[in-house]
Amino acid sequence: MDSVCSFQLAGRDVHVWPVRTKASSAAVARFAQVLTPLERERAARFRFEHLRQSFILSRGALRILLGRYLGVAPSEVRFMYGPKGKPALVTPAGVSFNTSHSGGLAVFAFTPGCELGVDLERIRPLPDLQDVAQRFFCSEETSDLLALPAGQQERAFFLCWTRKEAYIKATGDGLSVPLDAFRVELRPGEAARFIHVAHDVKAAKAWTLHDLDFGPDYAAALAYQDAERPLTVFRPADPADLLAMP
Ligand SMILES: CC(C)(COP(=O)(O)OP(=O)(O)OC[C@H]1O[C@@H](n2cnc3c(N)ncnc32)[C@H](O)[C@@H]1OP(=O)(O)O)[C@@H](O)C(=O)NCCC(=O)NCCS
Repeated sequence: MDSVCSFQLAGRDVHVWPVRTKASSAAVARFAQVLTPLERERAARFRFEHLRQSFILSRGALRILLGRYLGVAPSEVRFMYGPKGKPALVTPAGVSFNTSHSGGLAVFAFTPGCELGVDLERIRPLPDLQDVAQRFFCSEETSDLLALPAGQQERAFFLCWTRKEAYIKATGDGLSVPLDAFRVELRPGEAARFIHVAHDVKAAKAWTLHDLDFGPDYAAALAYQDAERPLTVFRPADPADLLAMP
């Protein structure tokens, strides 16, 4: 993981920033200041304080990071939304982004000129893992998963889930796309990749899939429709680190 802060996206660079979504009340208040009134209203609608804080910190971090890439104030970054809610920049500034958050961590991915999707899940016990896999995954993925030793299935499940969600987030279609309409590699020792998309093996080769390693508690993946791009994953930052950036 890279620790050098850089806000230059050259050529086909992909930058990934993990940011913790826990902070002091003072830091949360400072992040809230960069949100729009509508975003502050959305924050106020969260019933649970930790979810409210997580939204403020992750949306604020997105604004701060995008502001640095674009050279504008965080509060001046303007979003529009695709038909299924995928956020994008209003001003076509050439930077695509996507974000995900789970279990106290948010992740932000940025690249020029190519839609991407990122997904993060905190790995947690899933007593109905087999049922969920059978309901959502392709039959081959479920077989690959259940062929693993029991102790490896939990992590493999979340790897599969995040690889698949990264794809539906890259396309912007979200869960309106059945998760069994495309297949990801899941066999141990095999690199992450798409095996088919909409049952098209050739189309799958146009896509790149990366696993992102944020330690044993998380599974995360990044997907985009292009040949492999140079990827920089920064070290996990605290919200206060973003406020203190020179
Ligand atoms: C996109 C989606 C898969 C994300 O699910 P999730 O795992 O709960 O959430 P994550 O933490 O990974 O990602 C959330 C972020 O994804 C982004 N996002 C939202 N909709 C998105 C979409 N359609 N495509 C890509 N990214 C999207 C937003 O930045 C969001 O951040 P926010 O919650 O701070 O606004 C899910 O919300 C979805 O399917 N939305 C589309 C709605 C839809 O089609 N529903 C059909 C139900 S059958």
